[in-house]
Amino acid sequence: MKNLLVTGGAGFIGTNFIYYVQRHYPHINILNLDALTYAGNPDNLSNLPNPDHYHFIQGDIRDAALIEKILLEYQIDTIVHFAAESHVDRSIADPAPFISTNVMGTCNLLEAARKTWKSNDKTGGVKFHHISTDEVFGSLSPNDRPFSEMTPYNPNSPYAASKAASDHFVRAYYRTYGLPVTISNCSNNYGPFQYPEKLIPLIIINALNGKPLPIYGDGKQIRDWLFVIDHCEAIMEILIHGQTGETYCIGGNTQITNLEMVEIICSLLDEKVPTPKYRPHKNLIHFVPDRPGHDRRYAINTNKIKNTLGWQPSKDIISGLSQTIDWYLEHQEWVSTTLHKNNYQMWIQYQYGFNQDGE
Ligand code: NAD
Ligand code: DAU
Repeated sequence: MKNLLVTGGAGFIGTNFIYYVQRHYPHINILNLDALTYAGNPDNLSNLPNPDHYHFIQGDIRDAALIEKILLEYQIDTIVHFAAESHVDRSIADPAPFISTNVMGTCNLLEAARKTWKSNDKTGGVKFHHISTDEVFGSLSPNDRPFSEMTPYNPNSPYAASKAASDHFVRAYYRTYGLPVTISNCSNNYGPFQYPEKLIPLIIINALNGKPLPIYGDGKQIRDWLFVIDHCEAIMEILIHGQTGETYCIGGNTQITNLEMVEIICSLLDEKVPTPKYRPHKNLIHFVPDRPGHDRRYAINTNKIKNTLGWQPSKDIISGLSQTIDWYLEHQEWVSTTLHKNNYQMWIQYQYGFNQDGE
């Protein structure tokens, strides 16, 4: 792996992945292609340890001519495809961008890789890794076995359906054209740089500001949380040692309810926040109407990646959350800039009916 194209590298996981690669594989040249939607922030990458090996292009994965040009010009041998519309609630509000970016955009990338790599006869040394989600498998009941690579697809939200469709196209390009692909389906990530429309950063930031902590429905939905750096490590293992054409499920082996998660964050904040204005933070918890079609439980069986590639999550939930909270406390400027963006204010108003001032 010499010239790596990362799509969506200005978003949450992509940013963490680029830092991870630069720290552990400094010889790799990284090209980050990102359209900079509301979720992308190029300033995330302003402190890279090895800027000479990093290049950013603002562009859209749906732009076929641009993608082909990039693959040729930068002699890309590896693609890690993160770029997506990623927020379930936004997909419920408006599915169209999800179909367009997640399905059409992924197909566009696949087609460009097929054309470019085949015509250069480089298929031996190239790889297309597609980042997907556990949400493609649908919802588990309390006693169901965790999702594995054998679980049939059963997506419930427009976001999950769009990711499922993209997974199918990736697999089809392997079977039909022999494009050297791998796919990973990962559970909920948390950590630094996550856009504060997702549960964990939303709760941290609202709690710090004394704003309501919205919990959908009864808060007993279960997610399997994974620290983002563990996810990055798993992706690199797949890139280096994974078998072409294979899918790998990645998870944190940490199943907890949303309500438990929010209570843990609140008690960590009770200890960490220097001025105890809103202590105990759990008094800010506020139950709101449930997400339509809300999946009840996700859980991942990580046996395949553990047994074949030796990967398993290493960060426990308390130290991961503690590190995440510290990051948000230490990056007040990042938080403030994000919160004051129009798109963010409009989303909070639309989704919760209150703005950042709690009005
Ligand atoms: P994110 O929303 O934080 O970032 C997405 C990035 O993609 C942004 O920088 C955005 O600007 C960019 N982007 C969007 N549309 C684009 C387009 N048309 N062209 C180019 N760039 C575009 O998302 P994330 O949480 O970092 O998720 C990254 C990937 O991982 C997604 O594919 C998501 O489905 C998957 N995933 C996420 C999680 C999670 O918990 N966050 C878990 C499993 C899988
Ligand atoms: O499972 C992997 C998926 O995890 C990824 O594919 C998605 O890209 C990522 O966004 C995430 O999806 P979720 O819908 O699980 O994440 P979110 O942070 O939005 O919600 C986590 C849980 O918390 C979910 O059960 C809904 C609930 N929730 C969320 C918000 C924003 C609340 O109760 N209140 C909220 O305000």
